[in-house]
Amino acid sequence: NISTRTRDTYAMTVREGLAEVLPGFQTPIYGYDGVYPGPLIRAKKGREVVVRQTNALPFDTNVHLHGGYVPAAHDGHPMDVIAAGGSFDYHYPNEQDAATLWYHDHAHGRTSKTLYYGLVSMYLLEDELETELGLPQGEFDVPLVLADHAFNKDGSFRYAENVDIGFRGDTLLVNGAISPRMAVQRRRYRLRFLNASNARSYALRLGNARAMVQIAGDGGLLSRPVPRTNIPLHPAERVEVVIDFSQYGPGEELTLYNVDTEAGGGTTPIMRFDIQGGKASEDFRVPTRLRDPEPLPAPTVRRRWDLALGSAAWQINGLSWDPNRIDVRPRLGSTEVWTFVNNSGRVHPMHLHGFLFRVLERTSGPVELADRLGWKDTVGVLPNETVTVLAWFAPYKGKYVFHCHALEHADKAMMLQMEIV
Ligand code: C2O
Ligand code: CU
Ligand code: CU
Repeated sequence: NISTRTRDTYAMTVREGLAEVLPGFQTPIYGYDGVYPGPLIRAKKGREVVVRQTNALPFDTNVHLHGGYVPAAHDGHPMDVIAAGGSFDYHYPNEQDAATLWYHDHAHGRTSKTLYYGLVSMYLLEDELETELGLPQGEFDVPLVLADHAFNKDGSFRYAENVDIGFRGDTLLVNGAISPRMAVQRRRYRLRFLNASNARSYALRLGNARAMVQIAGDGGLLSRPVPRTNIPLHPAERVEVVIDFSQYGPGEELTLYNVDTEAGGGTTPIMRFDIQGGKASEDFRVPTRLRDPEPLPAPTVRRRWDLALGSAAWQINGLSWDPNRIDVRPRLGSTEVWTFVNNSGRVHPMHLHGFLFRVLERTSGPVELADRLGWKDTVGVLPNETVTVLAWFAPYKGKYVFHCHALEHADKAMMLQMEIV
């Protein structure tokens, strides 16, 4: 139920709105064009998209295209905001391979509330390779935005700040609906999951541990498909899977669960698929090769980032966000090995703006095959874990941020600044 547009220029208003999330109630939200999730953008590789954002909220906002290669002036840097009543034209070059990107507010210090109240949607960047591979399209290509919420008696969203673990809600929404049912034909679908939660990590699992075939992660297609029965999804991460509904009978129901790893592994239904009648269609198979990874220059620098609770706030290398300080200056076009050392009992989903990375190793166990076969922009660093990535600082120079994507951590300044030179 996300509305689709195909034009190359968009105009949106960032404003208050009402959404019927609980049947019979109107939930006040913040929304792009007043809806939650906001309008879905479909972009084509090599074709620029311009989005004029008009801020009709009574405070500063901005828009960050998460996962995009975007010039610094259009990235939605936390200090680069649109004042109340103002507007800004964001230019997105789309000079990168197809990927499930998303856009959200990034004005500093407020994102845990503005994203929770609805300033979130997806941006699907498509390319010709996907068409050549014959991946499911149109109604068979389904974006699914996951986020946990809580409600007051009047149906409004309840938000209680928890700076330690971040917000946890008791109700899981998919595209703004509670436990939705989706009617599916007996064929293969491409499902794109985004964890848009403030701070909750998920682990996706189908009923009876049926296989899902992962074809893409944050940074687009993997080099080959990976069958999985359990897919961890930390805040801000995306996964794309192909599910074959042709193997189920008409009238059957398939449930997608979250395995709650924080609460002892109990399962909660996320959504249900109702298998429709009609002949099973077998005309599409997932190709055995998807996208070949590009060769990278050898890394020139190694850096270490310690993630820990300082005297009052979450920090990186003992530092809190300071817009007047540049914390690191990678060279344009270079690769660097970055090691995140988590000295705490909390998960920190670490995210780089503007650039992608490969996950090299992690101390909690072998890196998942799917994570080794593709690009990522966010990686969940588990409690007391060390994760090493190879980041590629291309294609743009300028000032960008990297931060923990547990929004309460980021708002409380678990964010540093890099300048690509
Ligand atoms: Cu989802 Cu700083 O971004
Ligand atoms: Cu980002
Ligand atoms: Cu964190």
